[in-house]
Amino acid sequence: MTNPIYQTSTFVYRDMEEVVDFAEKKLTGDPGRFEYSRYGNPTERVVIRKLAELEGAEDGVLFPSGMCAITTTLLAFLKAGDHVVVSDEAYRKTRDFCANVLSRFGIDSTWIPVDDPDAWVRALRPETKIVLCESPTNPHLHIVDLEKLVSTMRQHTKALLVIDATFATPINQRPIEFGIDLVIHSGTKYLGGHNDLLGGVVLGCGDWTQRVKEMQGTLGGNMDPQGAYLLLRGLKTLAVRVQKHNENGQQVAEFLESHPKVKKVYYPGLRSHPHHEVAKRQMSGFGGVVSFETAGDKAATFRFIDSVRIPYLGPSLGGVESLIYHPAALTFADLSSDERVSLGLTDNLVRLAVGIEDSQDIIRDLDQALAAV
Ligand SMILES: Cc1ncc(COP(=O)(O)O)c(C=O)c1O
Repeated sequence: MTNPIYQTSTFVYRDMEEVVDFAEKKLTGDPGRFEYSRYGNPTERVVIRKLAELEGAEDGVLFPSGMCAITTTLLAFLKAGDHVVVSDEAYRKTRDFCANVLSRFGIDSTWIPVDDPDAWVRALRPETKIVLCESPTNPHLHIVDLEKLVSTMRQHTKALLVIDATFATPINQRPIEFGIDLVIHSGTKYLGGHNDLLGGVVLGCGDWTQRVKEMQGTLGGNMDPQGAYLLLRGLKTLAVRVQKHNENGQQVAEFLESHPKVKKVYYPGLRSHPHHEVAKRQMSGFGGVVSFETAGDKAATFRFIDSVRIPYLGPSLGGVESLIYHPAALTFADLSSDERVSLGLTDNLVRLAVGIEDSQDIIRDLDQALAAV
């Protein structure tokens, strides 16, 4: 019914015969038992099997955070002289890692707009080893056309195709079915789902995930068994939670779009979203994140945020409780205002991660708070 938490670092052997048997089997592949939790733990293993089934993947690797999944995966496949192509609205720390860490090891990155397949092709070099995209993106919910991306890339490169699909979850989108090689999620968001856990996962074919696992064994970014248990518990309700996030997200987006105090709404479930048709083709739901610009200035937008009563004010998304935040003031506060504007991070932009509360309660709350704009 429930799975035990194997709260152990080490798995002991009966005698030396068992040690020798284990070592021989390990050389030829699966040793059939656990050795040391940095190389795997039974609680973690159950979570990986569930996630792999959900995503249609052969295998996976679990991490203590989404960032750890991203950095370990990139390090598993890249060496000095290699090149990475990254979508331009990728998660900020992913971009930081490529621009400021990989570059120190002689690995170059190129940023390209998600919705321009020709730019993806132009960015390719003979030494391009990874094409890393994100869909939907933060905060504008851009959608990568996965079918087009895969078919175009397969014609021009042997690079590994990797997606950060955190905003979609395997309930709303299954990138492996489109031919993507590796799918990454921050488990901190919808997979965990309760704003109480950090986690990450990479899923794909066993040969690739094995390489990531070996890198994890060296770098040592492992999820602890308690975290794995919490994630497992979150997964039990993933489908119903995501269903409710989808319904709430759509209703809130439609309400905001019709509101005179709202200038623009970014939500892939709206017909006005530039990637709505692509989203409809490749996703079965559009999630709970709704970004929008108020019809006011910075002060009015701050007043609005301070007036909402249901969403908590803070970063993150995908939890049962709604969260609201102001990207320009929080995550991107270190950029100049010109840089922020060039990224579309205007002072009236708000990101709302709609939870699973009653949609009418959320809408009434937003309506009363918009009076402050
Ligand atoms: C799309 C996306 N990818 C990766 C991450 C990083 O995940 P974590 O915070 O679990 O390290 C985040 C965090 O917000 C995210 O939004």
